[in-house]
Formats: sequence, C-alpha cells, structure tokens
Amino acid sequence: MGSKFTKPLSAFATLTPVEQELVLKCWEAAKQSYSPYSKFPVGAAILAENEQGERKVFTGCNVENASYGGTICAERTAGVKAVSEGYRMFVTVAVVCAKIPGGPPCGFCRQFLCEFGGYRAEVLTVQNSGNDICRWTMDELLPDSFGPHSLQ
Ligand code: THU
Repeated sequence: MGSKFTKPLSAFATLTPVEQELVLKCWEAAKQSYSPYSKFPVGAAILAENEQGERKVFTGCNVENASYGGTICAERTAGVKAVSEGYRMFVTVAVVCAKIPGGPPCGFCRQFLCEFGGYRAEVLTVQNSGNDICRWTMDELLPDSFGPHSLQ
C-alpha cells in the first residue's frame, strides 16, 4: 500500500484490539476540537500506564486560542490528562486530523511525548478514512532527542 511517508501503510485489521480502540477514539476526540482559526480538527488517544502498571486510554483534541500561540495540540491535551491522573508512561498514541488525515505530531508534541514514555512509545497516525495507519516509534520521530536523560 502506498504512503506519503517513509513508513508503509498498515491496514486497520492488522492492528491489535487496543490499537484499534485508540484509532476509533481519536476520531471521536476530534469531534470536540476547538479549532475556529485553523479549521483543522485534530483528535488524539493515548494508552498510558501508571506506576502500578495499570493502563488506561486518555483522549484529547486541539484547543485553539485567539492569541494563536496559546493553542494546545490534541496530543498534548490527551497527554496532560493522562499525566494529571498519574499515568506518566505513554505506550501508544493515535492521532488523526478529521479533515485532512495523515499529519504526524508537530515538533512541540514530539518533545512533549518523549518526556513521558521516551523512545519506545509508538505513534499511529491515521492516514485516511479507511483507518490505514503509519506506525512510528518516538525514536524515529525525534531522534537524538533532548530529554530527562540529558539532565543527568
Ligand atoms: N495540531 C494538533 O493538534 N496536533 C499536531 O500535532 C499538529 C497540529 C493542531 C494545532 C492547531 O490547532 C491546528 O492543528 C493547526 O495547526
């Protein structure tokens, strides 16, 4: 299957059940997008783990601001919800722009996601309405990153 990225497309049917859940939930989250300026509604769903090893899905949408720099991306909305409930280890992140599917996380979000889950966390970008995805590791999206390890 063709992909506009270096990554091949993977069909929805090949995903694990929890990955499929994340893909469906990120579409759902995009419906709450507050994006009157860009009109680019984004949704994210993150499978995150707490210190007890319990896993839970958190969702989020982009929340824009009239002061454009105050905009928060969908990935960070979902991630902040997870961290604020004690789920600091991001395992898998699914993201979709409901209008133009296919965009990978922005640079700010890559840095943010790397903080919680590091190199091994996986990102699934939904590439089309048929839910084909591209699969990335955070190490691929943000190689040689500056992170918590850099401060030790
Ligand atoms: N956006 C996200 O929510 N996630 C990304 O990774 C890329 C960009 C949002 C921010 C803004 O509200 C809109 O998409 C256009 O940039």
